Amino acid sequence: MTSLLDKIDRGNVPAHVAIIMDGNGRWAKQRSLDRSEGHVEGVNTVRRITEAASEVGVKYLTLYAFSTENWNRPQDEVDALMHLIVIAIERETPDLIKNNVRLAMIGDFDRMPAEALNRLRRCMADTAHCTGLTLNLALSYSARWEITEAVRAIATDAVKGKIAPADINSETVDRYLTTSSMPDPDLLIRTGGDKRVSNFLLWQIAYSEIYITDIFWPDFSKEDFFRAILEYQSRERRFGLTSEQLTK
Ligand code: IPE
Ligand code: IPE
Ligand code: MG
Repeated sequence: MTSLLDKIDRGNVPAHVAIIMDGNGRWAKQRSLDRSEGHVEGVNTVRRITEAASEVGVKYLTLYAFSTENWNRPQDEVDALMHLIVIAIERETPDLIKNNVRLAMIGDFDRMPAEALNRLRRCMADTAHCTGLTLNLALSYSARWEITEAVRAIATDAVKGKIAPADINSETVDRYLTTSSMPDPDLLIRTGGDKRVSNFLLWQIAYSEIYITDIFWPDFSKEDFFRAILEYQSRERRFGLTSEQLTK
């Protein structure tokens, strides 16, 4: 069987793919398993899709792993997820290095349990030299939290005289966001079928192409990922212009 990978135009691969990894709980429920089993299986998908993204030449892969709102889930589930992060990072670090993948993280570090944060920090340091894919985990992240922090930092710098209010423009805002070192996502994927953005990268997805699939995250395969990229390649990104202007 030829893979969809072969059909992908290597000259038009999205530089940044962002994914709302949803449906772990429903995947587990379908099988009469505990929700946490769905999260365990979801980690295997993270591994698979990180590989797929590297294979196709994506430069940044941002995965929404835990939202600010997810702290309000039952404590058992939150604890299981945080524990899973510790185990998964520990297990996967050697392969990340081998595959030249650099780990990054966006989110409210202060709310993360110390053990998970330490593991993540160690893995970020251990992979800092990697030059292939950047795997960017959104943990304890929400876009409203991020934008609020950026506004606070801009206001603080304005009071200190480091920035003049009249000079604040959209690039200024970009610089104060947690994603300042990355291009905006070209493609936003949501698994699990819900048609909403759930407080993810609200500023940065202004012109992202959106791809939603009913497939639950634990079932999301490399071929499904390649299918999303092929769909992306069939879209015309107009950025507010007319189609005629683009072909001129
Ligand atoms: C996404 O799966 C993972 C996290 C939010 C941590 P869910 O746990 O939200 O799964 P569903 O949406 O309930 O199926
Ligand atoms: C979005 O999924 C957050 C993550 C994937 C981490 P949720 O399951 O939390 O989103 P809602 O509640 O369906 O909007
Ligand atoms: Mg969900």
